[in-house]
Amino acid sequence: MKLTVIGCGYLGATHAACMAELGHQVLGMDSDMEKVAIMNSGKAPFLERGLDTLIARHTADGRLEFTASYEEAAAFGNLHFVCVGTPQQPGKHAYDLGHLFTAVRKLSPWLRSPAVVAVKSTVPVGAAPRVRDLLHEVAPAGDAIEVAWNPEFLRESFAVKDTLRPDRLVLGFDSENSRAEAVLRQCYEKIIETGTPTIVTDWATAELAKTSANAFLATKISFINAIAEICEASGADVDRLADILGHDARIGQGGMRPGLGFGGGCLPKDIRGFMARADELGVGRALTILREVDAINSRRRERVVDLARRQLDDTLVGKRITVWGAAFKPGTDDIRDSPALAVARRLHELGATITVTDPQALDNARKRHPELDYVDDPIAAVEGAHLLLHLTEWPLYSRLDPDRLAARTSTPKVIDGRGTLDAETWRRAGWTFRALGRH
Ligand code: UGA
Repeated sequence: MKLTVIGCGYLGATHAACMAELGHQVLGMDSDMEKVAIMNSGKAPFLERGLDTLIARHTADGRLEFTASYEEAAAFGNLHFVCVGTPQQPGKHAYDLGHLFTAVRKLSPWLRSPAVVAVKSTVPVGAAPRVRDLLHEVAPAGDAIEVAWNPEFLRESFAVKDTLRPDRLVLGFDSENSRAEAVLRQCYEKIIETGTPTIVTDWATAELAKTSANAFLATKISFINAIAEICEASGADVDRLADILGHDARIGQGGMRPGLGFGGGCLPKDIRGFMARADELGVGRALTILREVDAINSRRRERVVDLARRQLDDTLVGKRITVWGAAFKPGTDDIRDSPALAVARRLHELGATITVTDPQALDNARKRHPELDYVDDPIAAVEGAHLLLHLTEWPLYSRLDPDRLAARTSTPKVIDGRGTLDAETWRRAGWTFRALGRH
């Protein structure tokens, strides 16, 4: 099939490359010319496991190309995936749908023949009819343009795998047996024939599938973090407890890692956008649980700041703190709403000098937060530090030798915000060791 992907961020670039891998002819469209040039040269514009290989492979075999032109995209094929970002509105909880409607508005005038526009961006429920209305109003092909809602559940750093081998496919349409369904089934044929559960539903259910899934995942993380608070107060060990709970198949081990909590470009803004939409629908009370989920998550960051202050005898001014981790989670260079950087910035505001290290996200962090200091080598970063904070659980950090690290500082104190350092080894090496949810 010939298809396009409008918006080549974490979602769109991955989707475009994976559709080429499935055998389709793909044109990715992004208004950022620099990004388009990077991808046309066969490289991924950000870190995502396996993406570089796919982009290199399919820009070379001619199945994948990128453009900054809506006109070219519209003329390229009759299936257009919309993958633009829907961030949180500044100062509000609601989604900012500006990029979505701008993309649809710019694509529409060039849609002269029947086509399917399949939206993958995460939206508040009720956006689909607005997209349809805009398309029908502006596109020369009018109501021959069909809208499908096709949410994506990929996790950053597993995005290629999650796209090619998803847990399920969700396809939302506004009528039964629509032509759009046949088109999407053809597009995903190779995935469907492996037995992937494929759920066909209406627009609203498809829209809600995404925000409800993320709300549930966030709730699970905040639940175990609330339990971590109880563990700290009662002397229990939250890691053991999470393991015990996870053996119950109804609870499961996934998303039960206690620690500094969730960040990134999705979970935090999705629970807020979901609450804002529920308010608009007059059912805000249904999601008050998410307010608590958000509050528990914020308290994790405050807790680390508080523990740091206490470890430094209540004086942060003039203290040197090293932070291991800038990415919002390991395996990515994405720093959007990074819990590690939120803690680093807060401690900086309170007067400490912060040195941040990260194996992949330093360039992004340096650009966004020039007020912090950055060092590439996690061992060198500890030199002269009064306190070390482990805030993004890159596997390399738990392999570093605490004996060697202790020699770099005269006050070996560490706070493990992610529960992946071995307390005993660190204590044996002379470190004062504190962890969230453990003693
Ligand atoms: C999340 C969802 O997991 C995806 O299903 C969804 O498609 C995606 O958002 C999206 O909306 O696009 P992602 O943001 O890549 O994916 O990250 P997760 O792996 O879910 O982690 C989110 C945050 O929660 C990270 O900061 C991570 O460190 C934290 N986390 C995760 C925990 O603190 N504990 C856990 O047990 C799991």
